[in-house]
Amino acid sequence: MRAALYDRYGPPEVLYVGKVPTPDVKPGEVLVRVRAVGVNGGELSGRAGKIKLVTGRRFPQRTGIDFAGEIAVVGASVTGVRVGEQVWGILPRRMGSAAEYVAVAAQKVSPAPENLTPEQAVSLVTGGTTSLTALTDKSALRPGERLLVRGGSGGVGSVGVQVGKMLGAHVTALAGAKNLDFVRGLGADEVFDYRAAGPAELGTFDVVLDTVGTQHRAFRRLLAPGGRMVAVSFDIDNGLRSLSYILASALQGSRRVRFFSGNPNTELLARLARYVEDGSIREVVDTVRPLTEIGEAHRALEAGGVRGKHVLRVE
Ligand SMILES: NC(=O)c1ccc[n+]([C@@H]2O[C@H](COP(=O)([O-])OP(=O)(O)OC[C@H]3O[C@@H](n4cnc5c(N)ncnc54)[C@H](OP(=O)(O)O)[C@@H]3O)[C@@H](O)[C@H]2O)c1
Repeated sequence: MRAALYDRYGPPEVLYVGKVPTPDVKPGEVLVRVRAVGVNGGELSGRAGKIKLVTGRRFPQRTGIDFAGEIAVVGASVTGVRVGEQVWGILPRRMGSAAEYVAVAAQKVSPAPENLTPEQAVSLVTGGTTSLTALTDKSALRPGERLLVRGGSGGVGSVGVQVGKMLGAHVTALAGAKNLDFVRGLGADEVFDYRAAGPAELGTFDVVLDTVGTQHRAFRRLLAPGGRMVAVSFDIDNGLRSLSYILASALQGSRRVRFFSGNPNTELLARLARYVEDGSIREVVDTVRPLTEIGEAHRALEAGGVRGKHVLRVE
């Protein structure tokens, strides 16, 4: 099958589409014919070699974590799914969804939202599951509370703003100057240009959702009494310092920085699908390109100014 690969760490130009074996389907797994895959911020760091401790030194490497497509093969001992069913999901703790097929545990997929195309659906998988985990499980955001979303125009933040509104919060978002209207259109009550407005100018918040990874200390100071901060990213260029700060904050009890690495299951994916189908959350597609243009998609995300998600169509 065809898959996006790279033989060394480097700029977007290292990406190419080559041949790899179609994965075997083990008991408990399904084989999904991938129709669309998203380009997530973290995949740029992986390709650039910024997280070698995690990605290692074996090549070729694969990329892509989320996918939307249809079930091609149902493995032994899997029940409740059928060949041809439209599904979406995220690979658990490994890359490789930018490909024609993925084999994945059946508990890691759910039926995709019925009202969306695979390209639209995949724009929401990672951002949606991450935002739901952050704003419900990790911070228990309540109606009427004040939420700040850092990175409100990105893959996670653009869905985080919508989830915040769905949960009844007053949502303030930080985004680049050209994307303020886009983020307002997602439902944000207040939007600030992150290059113009410093943390001190924003007020206080009950929940801060940080998708950027820098300045955790400065943003945690914005928490009102009883406030919660959830971070899904850390500052890779100052990795040790940034992670130490997050770890040390555990001593702060409820005011700690709640950091997690998402690993969604069928239940969470199905919950997200329901919110999409009832219109609470809508797709956030910036561009759709064929898989062969994955290098351009990485370059576009790196250039900044993304509105939601760059999506790859797998023909
Ligand atoms: N822990 C988890 O489970 C989990 C899950 C998903 C993602 N992540 C991580 O979360 C991070 C974000 O992922 P993503 O896919 O949303 O990335 P993305 O699509 O590249 O979005 C990043 C956004 O942040 C904005 N931004 C950059 N600097 C900013 C600043 N100083 N203040 C406010 N906004 C700023 C960017 O705006 P401009 O382009 O206009 O600069 C962009 O819209 C990545 O590090 C990723 O690895 C973690």
